Amino acid sequence: MMVTSTKKSTLYCKFGWCGRPAWVWHSLLAMMLTVWSTALAQAETLQALNWWSSTSEHKAVDALVVKLAMENILWQEVLIPSGSGAGALIVLKSRVIAGEAPEVAQLNGTIIGDWADMGLLLNLDTVAQSGKWDKVLLPAIYSWIRPRDHVVVAPLGIHRVNTLIFNPKMLTRYKLVPPQSWEEFELVATALQKAGIPALAQSSEAWQVATLFESLVLAESGPEFYRDIFVNKDPRAFADRRFNHALWRLRALKKWMAQPVREQSWTEVTHLFADGGAAMMVTGDWAKGELNAWGLTTDIEFGCSTVPGTGDYHLYDIDTLAMFATHKGHRPAQLKLAQLVLSPDVQNDYNRIKGSIPVLRNPDLSRMDSCARTSWELFSRGARVQVPSFAHRMATDETSRDTIIAELHRFFTDEHVSVSDAQRRLVQIAKILRKATKS
Ligand code: BGC
Repeated sequence: MMVTSTKKSTLYCKFGWCGRPAWVWHSLLAMMLTVWSTALAQAETLQALNWWSSTSEHKAVDALVVKLAMENILWQEVLIPSGSGAGALIVLKSRVIAGEAPEVAQLNGTIIGDWADMGLLLNLDTVAQSGKWDKVLLPAIYSWIRPRDHVVVAPLGIHRVNTLIFNPKMLTRYKLVPPQSWEEFELVATALQKAGIPALAQSSEAWQVATLFESLVLAESGPEFYRDIFVNKDPRAFADRRFNHALWRLRALKKWMAQPVREQSWTEVTHLFADGGAAMMVTGDWAKGELNAWGLTTDIEFGCSTVPGTGDYHLYDIDTLAMFATHKGHRPAQLKLAQLVLSPDVQNDYNRIKGSIPVLRNPDLSRMDSCARTSWELFSRGARVQVPSFAHRMATDETSRDTIIAELHRFFTDEHVSVSDAQRRLVQIAKILRKATKS
């Protein structure tokens, strides 16, 4: 203690403050407090509703919040924890209806266009023009954020949903490699089972079942069939034998999962994998960000591959921030935030922590791990390889998504529902949804 205080007084003396009377210190403190409180009083506060509650999600948002604070804008967190945002969207909708929309919200999916049509979202055209977003953004992203030719959201990053994360040590111990096809998967899973290791960590939570299932549909026969199911909701596609087969695969995979397959959050499932409870997991690459945040290194403690049969495709999920057209006084801060989202520093730092990839045409590839680099290189090839995630709201409207997911969840959790029952019900659902969209 003595040493510290001596050090302090030596330092103060150096700056000529040595031996000043107490009132000098008090006035100085008062002055500092006044400056600080004036700064705080002048700072603009933006309420930001989001569902990013995990370790990596928090850290990633901090990369943005710090930059925002430098502009004297405070990010007031309105956190509604809910994997894939189901709960957050319900809260957001009720706040919008009550006329209490936050200034900022994490808003993913096709709902962006609907809310822009209703005049709820701030037009970001001026920020986009001055930042040359048409030149700096990947073309698919630039078109996604302009549902009716006006920019209405600021894009943060792109997740790859058809990711397979594996434990390299476990696989190598049994001379196995990450499976590229479902035939290989069966061989790997059988060998692991003999060693008493479950192949897959998986939750029975509805959106996580849907996240797995959409990859199975994509693996069945590529993007065209996938679109017929999840974008066009074509009843004939739902009646097709390939859809039957994807349902069968979903049921068959249960036997390779760590038992019991409980309704766990995605971070709990990631923990199960990290603790050696299973050799692989199918997940969006946000789980990679989380493993990194827990101190596990990509390509060392875990590896990153793709769901068997989907390696040529990028099943994407785009994270965006929408600014609500609330009080006019908030506009400058909202526009500043939109501008910061696209700054190279935020793009690189945020996405590196989050597990996603930058939305930019020229990101810093050298700062990406192999998983992110593969994801960015594939996504930047364009429309031919890009497939919109159904589970993460990129493919269809909320009602269709929720109805189909509820049926898939029932099928996954209730063994009494046969593959043909589930298929029959989903064909019916598709017919109703189609009619509803047309009318
Ligand atoms: C979001 C991600 C989020 C994940 C888990 C996805 O729908 O796009 O940002 O990390 O859900 O909640």
